[in-house]
Amino acid sequence: MHDILVIGAGIAGLTVALKAAENGKSVLLLTKGAKPDGSTNYAQGGIASVTSPEDSFESHIADTLEAGDGLCKKRQVEILTRNAPKAIEQLIKWGVNFTPAKNNANFFDLHMEGGHSFRRILHTADLTGKEIMRALLARLKQCKIDFLEHSTVLNLIVKKSHCIGALTTSAPVYAKTVVLATGGAGRLWLHSTNPPDACGEGIAMAYRAGAALQDLEFMQFHPTSLYAPQLKKTFLISEAMRGFGGILKNHSGEEFMNGVHPLRSLAPRDIVARAILSEMQRTGKDYMYLDITHRKAKDIKTHFPNIYAKCLECKIDIAKDWIPVVPAAHYMCGGVLVDSYSRTTLKGLYAVGEIAATGVHGANRLASNSLLESVVFALRACEKMSEPRFTGFKDSQDYKLSTLNSQLSTFSKQKKEIRTIMWEHCGIVRSMSGLKIGLEKLRKFDGILDLEFRNFLESAKLVVECALKRKESRGLQCLTDYPEKNPKGLKHYTIKKM
Ligand code: FAD
Ligand code: SIN
Repeated sequence: MHDILVIGAGIAGLTVALKAAENGKSVLLLTKGAKPDGSTNYAQGGIASVTSPEDSFESHIADTLEAGDGLCKKRQVEILTRNAPKAIEQLIKWGVNFTPAKNNANFFDLHMEGGHSFRRILHTADLTGKEIMRALLARLKQCKIDFLEHSTVLNLIVKKSHCIGALTTSAPVYAKTVVLATGGAGRLWLHSTNPPDACGEGIAMAYRAGAALQDLEFMQFHPTSLYAPQLKKTFLISEAMRGFGGILKNHSGEEFMNGVHPLRSLAPRDIVARAILSEMQRTGKDYMYLDITHRKAKDIKTHFPNIYAKCLECKIDIAKDWIPVVPAAHYMCGGVLVDSYSRTTLKGLYAVGEIAATGVHGANRLASNSLLESVVFALRACEKMSEPRFTGFKDSQDYKLSTLNSQLSTFSKQKKEIRTIMWEHCGIVRSMSGLKIGLEKLRKFDGILDLEFRNFLESAKLVVECALKRKESRGLQCLTDYPEKNPKGLKHYTIKKM
């Protein structure tokens, strides 16, 4: 029995594990794949924090609220932004190297991204996530933390309304406190920037265990993933590229964001993604272009070495050629409902990182606020974990032990069908009738009993059910049959198993 069981080893899970270990707790950390396997490793743009003298917390708060389209929880946004410098300090203490300012090593080089009024994105070139994972995993080696890779959690174990552990593919494990840090759900959609393990399993597990979920309808589609059908994995073209001057163009070279939003190519993501989709439909093309060729080749290579190299692999020299781009499912704004210390509504269970619905993103996330959210709220969770917990239960969950040691079945064909349904019926632009058809199609898979597959399927169904509740267009929920904002829509839809 450990003090703390952390499920997921991205930035959020690692922050909890490291901080809890520093606080003298015994920690068991589980991850589905081999480290580093989550979205964190792929983060390019960076992490938002007020660090420059011209910037202010008020401005970071205002930008976050503006992007969230009326649905952000203000107190949570205050906590997020005002604790950002402390979170950055903690990452640096654990060994993360952010790119310093060119002429002053005491400051950071700050990128600009959509929806931000100031340059406030700290980064490590365009490989910020990789650097964070490198540093946190190196730190992990210095701590006494039990770390098990290839340990997929299939179910949470609940006794007398307390979460007391989790069922993994090899055994049940128990802890005084359980922390869900399983990341996002982008892989429920056909086209996604996310790695394979980001398929929302934590949503289904938390729901079955009795925790409340919120805001699942708000899936953020990143406007610019590289259109390269020859690539097996989708590759992101960071929003920082538009912050660096990148301009969206159609195939005739027209800057189609002119007239759509005053910030043009740097408008909030929901607006840019919809505009790209609409221009693709209007012109009958499969992709649009991002043009950065007006910047110096040397500067492009310095700021975006990873993107430059990846595009070159696809025979696109971004210093000379326009980059073909297309939107893809990217970030889940909602998730498992938590309070300001990351406590879910189920005793003994915390949720941190992308799986958590802290309320800071409202109906649409401001770029580079999610790495920040992960660290700020993971550190806050650790402040409360000394509270006494209900312990000492013997497991009596109703599952068949025979399934425990079985190989994980992949059901890859069925999962691809589900991803296609989600893309077609619960995508960037939706309709009530389309969502209902989508849900019916998803229900056809109900007969498959494999637990890992069920987590995938149930998470998809829960997203569609949430989307059906919100009868308005707000932020990332865009409905053709309810194109306006509803003044009564200023609320969060919560779902919980009865
Ligand atoms: P992850 O890093 O995804 O980690 C989840 C962990 O949970 C993994 O270890 C996984 O194996 C494990 N897991 C999942 N299911 C199970 C299970 N059933 N059992 C056991 N373990 C499980 N945000 C920013 O703020 N700035 C950026 O620049 C940025 N760029 C991005 C670029 C890309 C391409 C992507 C995909 C996302 C980006 N984001 C960015 C979003 C950000 O990276 C994520 O929101 C954040 O990293 C999530 O961290 P996490 O710890 O919650 O989850
Ligand atoms: C990006 O680099 O465009 C991703 C930033 C984010 O998702 O916050």
